[in-house]
Amino acid sequence: MAILVTGGAGYIGSHTCVELLNDGYQVIVVDDFSNSNPESLKRVEQITGKQLKTYPIDLLNQIDLEKVFKENKIEAVIHFAGLKSVGESVAVPLKYYRNNVISTLILCEVMRKHRVKNLVFSSSATVYGATDKMPVSEDAFLKPVNPYGRTKHLIEELLRDLYQSDKEWSITLLRYFNPIGAHESGNIGEDPNGIPNNLLPYISQVAVGKLQRLNIFGDDYPTKDGTGIRDYIHVVDLAKGHLKALEKITSITGVETYNLGTGRGYSVLEMIDAFENASGKKIPYTVVDRREGDSAICYANPNKAREHLKWQASRDIHLMSKDAWRWQQKNPKGYQEIVDPRQTGVY
Ligand code: UD1
Repeated sequence: MAILVTGGAGYIGSHTCVELLNDGYQVIVVDDFSNSNPESLKRVEQITGKQLKTYPIDLLNQIDLEKVFKENKIEAVIHFAGLKSVGESVAVPLKYYRNNVISTLILCEVMRKHRVKNLVFSSSATVYGATDKMPVSEDAFLKPVNPYGRTKHLIEELLRDLYQSDKEWSITLLRYFNPIGAHESGNIGEDPNGIPNNLLPYISQVAVGKLQRLNIFGDDYPTKDGTGIRDYIHVVDLAKGHLKALEKITSITGVETYNLGTGRGYSVLEMIDAFENASGKKIPYTVVDRREGDSAICYANPNKAREHLKWQASRDIHLMSKDAWRWQQKNPKGYQEIVDPRQTGVY
């Protein structure tokens, strides 16, 4: 059975492709490589010893997308493709609405035309916005606080309306918490453009000497050590969640939402500590003002995914840090530069 993975060359997409191929699925990737590198897909093939089919196209181009559906027998779609920078979404919201919302709309139209009605959508815990009640469950009130989050929310609503109009659809909305880490091989991982916005890529780049010191965004939050608390989840655990969702949607119809998180929160200082232990490197830091839009605490209630999908995260923050560090050491410039493993001492 062929699974179409949009945005398959990205961070979560590439890890999901590995799990799909290892599980015997045929994988077709659509990616415009605007924020990813085709090298990640070569690495996926190396890791699994299996091949995938790639279409370097933009989802906004309906004619190109039609071709993918005509040429392949697609059973289900996992839809990762989209822009994800919060700051950029505030600066250029129209770009975000077009790229994220309109492309999903086109994808659904093409799917409907070709009678492919199984979809797993990559949503985010960002749809909850500044909610106070922790752990946060799927039925919490949704109030995203930036355009990026609002595109995810809008897409969720669009997909619910689609199901209401045609009960043959089977749609899963996966709300990710904070994915970090990398595949255990160290050959695929997170490769942010420019200076990272997120905590773990920033810490890794300090550890490897690319950045000088970390800025901690506030230590006066009402948390145990004053720094922000998040639910960090290993990207491989997250990828495996997609396979569970896939099994479910290919057997029943409906729209279901699941949190993919561990249910445990860690502070910025705890993450620095975990990373220092895993890497043996000191992470110098300075405490600066809070970042606008950040909440003090956010962690998942992951019970629904455990009960309905039989999925649970199993990798702890030590392993997350070790795997992130292995990837960073082997690929100090991400996918830009392929480093001879004999020079790094990491195999
Ligand atoms: C951020 C996004 C969120 C997105 C998620 C993707 C914002 C406001 N939110 O969430 O919409 O879905 O990434 O993973 O950008 N921190 C520092 N110094 C840094 C970076 C982060 O102290 O250089 C702190 C933050 O204040 C926060 C924690 O580390 O307490 C985690 O931050 P981050 O990795 O950016 O994730 P989120 O803020 O949860």
